Formats: sequence, structure tokens, C-alpha cells
Amino acid sequence: MSMPCQLCHISNSFSLMPIKILSVVKPIIDEAVQKMLCSNIAPIGSMGIADLGCSPGPNTLLLISIIIDAIHATSCSSSSTEFRVFLNDLFSNDFNTIFMSLPAFYNQLKEEKGDGFGSFFISAVPGSFYGRLFPAKSLHFVHSSSSLHWLSQVPPGLDCQAAGKALNKGKIYISKTSPQCVLEAYSLQFHKDFLLFLKSRAEEIVGGGRMVLSLMGRSSSDPSTQESCYQWELLAHALMSMVSEVNT
Ligand SMILES: C[S@@+](CC[C@H](N)C(=O)[O-])C[C@H]1O[C@@H](n2cnc3c(N)ncnc32)[C@H](O)[C@@H]1O
Repeated sequence: MSMPCQLCHISNSFSLMPIKILSVVKPIIDEAVQKMLCSNIAPIGSMGIADLGCSPGPNTLLLISIIIDAIHATSCSSSSTEFRVFLNDLFSNDFNTIFMSLPAFYNQLKEEKGDGFGSFFISAVPGSFYGRLFPAKSLHFVHSSSSLHWLSQVPPGLDCQAAGKALNKGKIYISKTSPQCVLEAYSLQFHKDFLLFLKSRAEEIVGGGRMVLSLMGRSSSDPSTQESCYQWELLAHALMSMVSEVNT
């Protein structure tokens, strides 16, 4: 089946958006890493860094480069510090693609920074960030970009029929036509998920550690404005037309 061009357009803008976001967030990551290294939270012999919702995409390694640059830019890091970098995503993530790109990444780092770019031990931690992923007090810096808008599940009730009618028929998120109860269901699900995320990280991060999270926001308090829903409306529309193609 051919992909509707609307879907190609959305998929392109979805994959470019995280790169833009990462470039905006870079100074914040720099500051967080440097402040952490320069504070006396503990003599750090080994620093735990986690990227939550890393995806198999190119941004995963870009983030590691940003962190290495931030570490190099401060006089507070010791050359003997070892860095444990954990890449997390769902069990279904294609971690092999990341691993296959590591040799080229290491070579590039060596070329750009010489042998002294530090000891980095990169590994994968599959599982949902809505729950514990790491041992207690094992992380110093946690990053997550463009991932926390993924809820742990469709809010209860939205995927079943009420009075013979699906509550959010033809939509994959809040839209202009969604009734108020759909908005409330999404809001409640986000609150539950985000609370669980914060509670889990609170156990895993050492006192004085840092966390940088970036996720989509909106300037209006109304979640059904064009600004908030446009891409999800388009995506829902494209999916519905693909389904109708299959059914005809
Ligand atoms: C839009 S991608 C962002 C990828 C990358 N962080 C970036 O900035 O390019 C969102 C990622 O979050 C992952 N994700 C969604 N829910 C998750 C969860 N509960 N636990 C871990 N990863 C999750 C998805 O599998 C996906 O790879």
C-alpha cells in the first residue's frame, strides 16, 4: 500500500522536529552537566547518564556528543571519571541499529577529540520509563527529549464503545470534535504517568543529580486549539484513509 503523501509530510516533520528541539535544549544540557560536575555532590568516580526514550534514530548519538562536549568544556571533570551511558526505550525499540552505529561513532570521537575523550561505557536498558529501570541512586544525569508525550496506554474508556458509540471516533488524540470527557481522560492519564515517571526517577537519581526533560507544549490552555492538535488531526486523517483503502 502506498503511503499517503500527507503521512510522508508528517513523518518528515516528526523526524526533523527532535533535532531542532535538541539544538534548542543544548545550552540547558551544557549548564546542567557542568553545574552538576562542579557541585560537590560526591567525588564522582563513575557517572551514570541515562537517555530515556532514545529511539534508534541519529539523535541518540548526537545527545551523547553534546554531553561529552559539555563535560570537556568544564574544568571540574576529572580525567579518571568513567561514564556509564544507558540508552533506554521500549522493549520493541531497534537497539541493534544503535549498536551497529557505535564503531563509527567511537572512531569519529577519537578523530575529533583524540584518545582523551574519556571512558564511556554505552549500554541499552529496555523497558518503560513509567516505572523503575535502574538501581537506586545510580544516576547523575537523566535526559529525555520528545518522549514524555507518549502515554503508557490509551486512557481507559476511550477504546471502548459507550452507548454503541466510540467516544473519540476517528481520532487518535484530543481534537476539536472531542467531547470534554475525552480531554479529561487524557489529562488524567498524563498526570498518572508523569507522577510515576517522577517517583521512579526520584529513587534512581543521586541527591544533587540533574534531569533535563523536553516535551511538546502549547501557548494556549485549550488543548483542542489548532496549534495543539494540527499534526494529530492530520495523522488521524491519513490513518483513516489508509484503513478505508484496505476496506475497499
Ligand atoms: C519521538 S521519539 C524521540 C526520540 C529521541 N529522544 C529524539 O529526541 O529524537 C519518542 C521515543 O520514546 C519512546 N517511548 C515512548 N514511550 C516510552 C516509554 N514508556 N518508555 C521508554 N520509551 C518510550 C518511543 O519508543 C520513541 O522511540
